Amino acid sequence: MRTKIVAGNWKMNKTLAEAQTLTTELMTLVEAEVTNAAAIVLCVPFPYLPTLQQQLGTNARMKLGAQNCSEHEWGAYTGEVSVPMLSAMHVPYVIIGHSERRQYFGETNALMAKKVDAALKAGLTPIFCCGEPLDVREKGEHETLVREQVEQSLFHLPADAIAKVVIAYEPVWAIGTGKTATARQAQDMHAVIRRLLASRYGQNVADGIPVLYGGSVKADNAKELFSCEDVDGGLVGGASLKAREFTEIIKAIG
Ligand code: PGA
Repeated sequence: MRTKIVAGNWKMNKTLAEAQTLTTELMTLVEAEVTNAAAIVLCVPFPYLPTLQQQLGTNARMKLGAQNCSEHEWGAYTGEVSVPMLSAMHVPYVIIGHSERRQYFGETNALMAKKVDAALKAGLTPIFCCGEPLDVREKGEHETLVREQVEQSLFHLPADAIAKVVIAYEPVWAIGTGKTATARQAQDMHAVIRRLLASRYGQNVADGIPVLYGGSVKADNAKELFSCEDVDGGLVGGASLKAREFTEIIKAIG
């Protein structure tokens, strides 16, 4: 059985006070209403990590994640945050290769490979994002592109290392647009990713790697998406900023 994961990606939103309020609301709702065993991850802005870590305390249900990291460990890289810094704060997850990082910050598959290495070396779980822009899907080249992304950023890893990675398939045309992939489109791509992993690492390893769907996941479409055989949860942007909505999405895991 693969771990089910619902991760919220807060992106560059909320003041610290608002972030604390949202966390309190979520802790209360999750405690009262969530009966499934899904891992819940809050990927919050860097400066809020220590405060929210303290707020979550020993809460076993919710873990923190960063939204990015440097590929370097230490040194003269002004403005960057390294994985050893995150691991010293006991942050267990880090998103790597979000399409907004690819699009606005020019991050490449090769750079993401280095970030994945850095995260694994420091004992963090990378949530590695892949997914195609609209024009690529319209040309029917989405499977080829996603294959390339996964191969170029992850396939240098040995089996015991890739087994510690979480993959998130996020079609760029569905991110923040309100246009969700249909359950069929999501399942088809997740199955492609799983087959690709199996071809390189064997079925056993492939079957153990959680593949999340991201892109306009909402309370009213989560159940259908999460019911797909190869969809192991979600990476949720906008809807993770509202406690009630995010809780309903977590509950949709079943
Ligand atoms: P969205 O974002 O849920 O707002 O579409 C998802 C993401 O960017 O991870």
